[in-house]
Amino acid sequence: MGAGTRSELKKEIRRSGAAVDGKVVKDPGCSVSPSSHVVFRGAVIEYEEFVYYMLNKPAGIISASEDDREPTVVDLIDEPKRRDLFPVGRLDRDTEGLLLITNDGALSHRLLSPKHHVDKVYYARISGKVTEEDVRGFASGLQVDTDFRAMPAQLRILRSDSVSEVEIVIREGKFHQIKRMFRAVGKEVLYLKRLSMGSLTLDPALQPGTWRRLTAEELAELRNGL
Ligand code: URA
Repeated sequence: MGAGTRSELKKEIRRSGAAVDGKVVKDPGCSVSPSSHVVFRGAVIEYEEFVYYMLNKPAGIISASEDDREPTVVDLIDEPKRRDLFPVGRLDRDTEGLLLITNDGALSHRLLSPKHHVDKVYYARISGKVTEEDVRGFASGLQVDTDFRAMPAQLRILRSDSVSEVEIVIREGKFHQIKRMFRAVGKEVLYLKRLSMGSLTLDPALQPGTWRRLTAEELAELRNGL
């Protein structure tokens, strides 16, 4: 529960002990259950089965749980560390925005399953003029390449110019999906940021690289939407 690393805790428990259901134990291998009452360093250790963090992913960081060579999105959650966190889905290294980090595998599975049709909203800057024809093409299900036809996606033009700004809603999460969709209509994504996933909307107060826990309401709404 974030009290320290395994090796630190083993040493400290051997030396100073912990109280489990009122008894002092000095064996770090002692089994405890989620309902055990554990006191360590004079404070009660609350067991929390699942945790949920909203991260504003910065560009330049990979969406993975761990990596031998570089920091990951999970490493940005610098609250006393749990070892079981992972990101729900992936954003490309250069994509910013909303990423849910959790240890709740069942919720993650449901959010990512194509069956549940969870809408993901992105803001993008595109090189070239995005047109009403692109909007219609995206809406009718774009043939992205020979073996991938995208599901209908809503494209909203915010600004159409030599660099355009758009909002796009997709329900799938295929590899490089939005970049590939724009490439299929001869345009390039210059900047991409995820704004929401289902009912969960990126908190505008979160700067890239920062996070906060989901509120109980956000979590309930996310679950209700599935
Ligand atoms: N589509 C992409 O191309 N990249 C992302 O990171 C997310 C959606």
